[in-house]
Amino acid sequence: MTIQRTLSIIKPDATRRNLTGKINARFEENGLRIIAQKRIHMSLKQAEGFYAVHSERAFFSDLCEFMCSGPVVVQVLEGDNAVATNRTIMGATNPANADEGTIRKDFGESIEANSVHGSDSTENAATEIGFFFSQTELVG
Ligand code: CMP
Repeated sequence: MTIQRTLSIIKPDATRRNLTGKINARFEENGLRIIAQKRIHMSLKQAEGFYAVHSERAFFSDLCEFMCSGPVVVQVLEGDNAVATNRTIMGATNPANADEGTIRKDFGESIEANSVHGSDSTENAATEIGFFFSQTELVG
């Protein structure tokens, strides 16, 4: 048993369709606890900072604009192997390639509007959690 924490974002395409509760149920049904959560409207600067690792990619500016196009729900999930567990629950980045029963397969609209973001490593999880939350906001 390796308890980890990971950063999750419910993206604007999902909040627009009022899917926050349905997506949160997927996390909880699969053993992850939501130990911090807030609904925010990201500024372009915040989105560019959060996705800085992708700044050289062709999709960077579209992605940042999309992430500012409506509210998002940023959250910290905790549980056994939370980083990998959440990636399994989310499914592949492109909903067209995602396994049946995953969030992106069931709710994603496109590779950009793919409903959720999840950290891809424990190192990035720590950085991404720190981007949105202070230690006192994490209530395990
Ligand atoms: P996310 O997990 O939030 O991390 C970066 C995001 O870039 C990714 O999900 C996708 O929504 C988005 N994206 C848009 N176009 C592409 C692409 N061609 N390849 C990978 N990611 C893309």
